[in-house]
Amino acid sequence: MVGIGGNLSMAMPDLRDRTVHHGFHEQAYQTSTALVRQWEDDLSRDPDRAQKSLAAVVDHWQSTTLHHGALEEELFYPPWITEKPELQDLITGLIHDHHLMRQWVDEIRHLLDTHQPLNQARLLVDAVLVLIRTHSEAEEETLCR
Ligand SMILES: [Fe+2]
Ligand SMILES: [Fe+2]
Repeated sequence: MVGIGGNLSMAMPDLRDRTVHHGFHEQAYQTSTALVRQWEDDLSRDPDRAQKSLAAVVDHWQSTTLHHGALEEELFYPPWITEKPELQDLITGLIHDHHLMRQWVDEIRHLLDTHQPLNQARLLVDAVLVLIRTHSEAEEETLCR
């Protein structure tokens, strides 16, 4: 078990239930887009505020989206591979998506920490949003009922 902390099995909702899992993805995604819109507004008006609002985007992704992905890798995917080994390649692809999300979010955090011009984060922010959307749809389509 990776040390994510807390009682994971108690905290884990039934992610095979499509309504439950989609509900989580949707709520997290809507929060993401609202925070990104705030950052885009701030970027054109107030660089100091833009620094803070981009940090809020990154905090949200780290505490919600990436945390959710880590829980899936620990608790949601392994039973599927045991039950249906033919899903291995698909799940390897989903784990790769999580890896890319982590890498891009880390790159945005690095831009913030090193006080780079935040325009440089635009491409990465858009890429994370697109990947979250396509990844969530694929997961719901293939691993939920
Ligand atoms: Fe996932
Ligand atoms: Fe998920």
